[in-house]
Amino acid sequence: MSAPYILVLYYSRHGATAEMARQIARGVEQAGLEARLRTVPAVSTECEATAPAIPAEGALYVSLDDLRHCAGLALGSPTRFGNMAAPLKYFLDGTSSLWLTGELVGKPAGVFTSTSSLHGGQESTLLSMMLPLLHHGMLLCGLPYSEGALLDTRGGGTPYGPSHHAGADGKRALDEHEISLCRALGLRLAKTAQQLETPRG
Ligand SMILES: Cc1cc2nc3c(=O)[nH]c(=O)nc-3n(C[C@H](O)[C@H](O)[C@H](O)COP(=O)(O)O)c2cc1C
Repeated sequence: MSAPYILVLYYSRHGATAEMARQIARGVEQAGLEARLRTVPAVSTECEATAPAIPAEGALYVSLDDLRHCAGLALGSPTRFGNMAAPLKYFLDGTSSLWLTGELVGKPAGVFTSTSSLHGGQESTLLSMMLPLLHHGMLLCGLPYSEGALLDTRGGGTPYGPSHHAGADGKRALDEHEISLCRALGLRLAKTAQQLETPRG
């Protein structure tokens, strides 16, 4: 059996959500847990289109086993019309076998997103991403207001999870508050997973 890890699973077309995932991974590692970064392939309008099994760059594609065996999950997507992106939803729609066996029940999970506009649906996307995780019986971790960045931010950052305002051209880098909230989620998920794994005497 492998050492416990937090699965940081995301979709990212232009890199903003991917950078958030890397910051969350740093928070996980701060707690001494492994962060397993994984992504999902794009979906195609052509039914028969296939992509190579290993992407040309970046994180590997996630497998059901990555999800099955994780100690916790951080799930990230760009906002698409106030909702998660189709490739991530497509992957989640293929997780019925884990729902049937209840293998994700009781595991901690959190969500993150990036948008081009500041009020363009960060919270609605984060809330929508929580729904399938609740169906799986996962324990949702948001961000508490003891994280000062939640009050100081002039960009992204919500109590429902970290968010990033990438700007109309998608080029705005993560600012210090957005970075700190990404790391806080990673740390919180890892610590919660460790506490849940500790055998109670
Ligand atoms: C089809 C589509 C829909 C989008 N919908 C929204 C939206 O509702 N609100 C918003 O602020 N940005 C929206 N965006 C912009 C992306 O959320 C934004 O560029 C994000 O930072 C991209 O993340 P990525 O760099 O990880 O791909 C949309 C982009 C696309 C392609």
